[in-house]
Amino acid sequence: MDTAGSSTTASMAIAAHYDRLFETHHMSATGVEWPSDAIHHAVFDGLLRDVRLHRALSVLDVGCGYGALIGYLESRGCAPRRYLGVEVSRLALAAAQDRWPANCRFLLGDFSREDFEVEADFDLAVCAGALVHFVDPDGLHIATMIDKMLQASPCVVFNVISDADADAGYADPPVSGEPYVLGIPQLERVLDRLSGKWPTLQWHTHCAQTWPRSTDVFVRLTR
Ligand SMILES: C[S@@+](CC[C@H](N)C(=O)[O-])C[C@H]1O[C@@H](n2cnc3c(N)ncnc32)[C@H](O)[C@@H]1O
Repeated sequence: MDTAGSSTTASMAIAAHYDRLFETHHMSATGVEWPSDAIHHAVFDGLLRDVRLHRALSVLDVGCGYGALIGYLESRGCAPRRYLGVEVSRLALAAAQDRWPANCRFLLGDFSREDFEVEADFDLAVCAGALVHFVDPDGLHIATMIDKMLQASPCVVFNVISDADADAGYADPPVSGEPYVLGIPQLERVLDRLSGKWPTLQWHTHCAQTWPRSTDVFVRLTR
């Protein structure tokens, strides 16, 4: 799978978009484009609904923003033992580095690139809202992101926008210029293809209307 060329262009647009948002809204839900604190919280609730959280977790957070997931886990009494956040926005990443304890590490870069490597021994990989910016026609970008998370952890959770009002702007967005919406049949084709590489891959999904005028699918994968 090689999407490095196109994903680089898209990820530069995404980084510029999030840098601009962060400059205006700083460390807040709106600073990472969630409409409110309540929705930000609901996204983490949805992602982690069926994950057994405990105090010794090691977590990879793909598209970590300013690391709000750490605060969420702390609020549930499960501050991660080890945490690595990956982020393309310099400003969000710099804020995260200042904000969180030393056992939380952060890397700047585009996780979708084949040459962007992370260690492979996390209990859990989380991707909250970073698979919703760029859906290429074959789903290759998303397949690459998911495959890389599976390499890093036997348990992966993420969300995608599965459906949206036609006029809500998700199908013709300004950030990457590519549609954001990944319908459930397309998502299943991506996961089917990945099960060629990960033969014991299992997935569970549930839907929620977390974002205005769109439906998110929360996906949990185990391999
Ligand atoms: C909706 S925001 C959510 C941030 C964070 N996960 C949270 O919920 O607080 C999505 C984040 O993913 C980052 N992102 C998107 N694509 C990425 C990629 N390919 N590699 C690294 N970060 C990415 C964006 O820069 C943005 O900060």
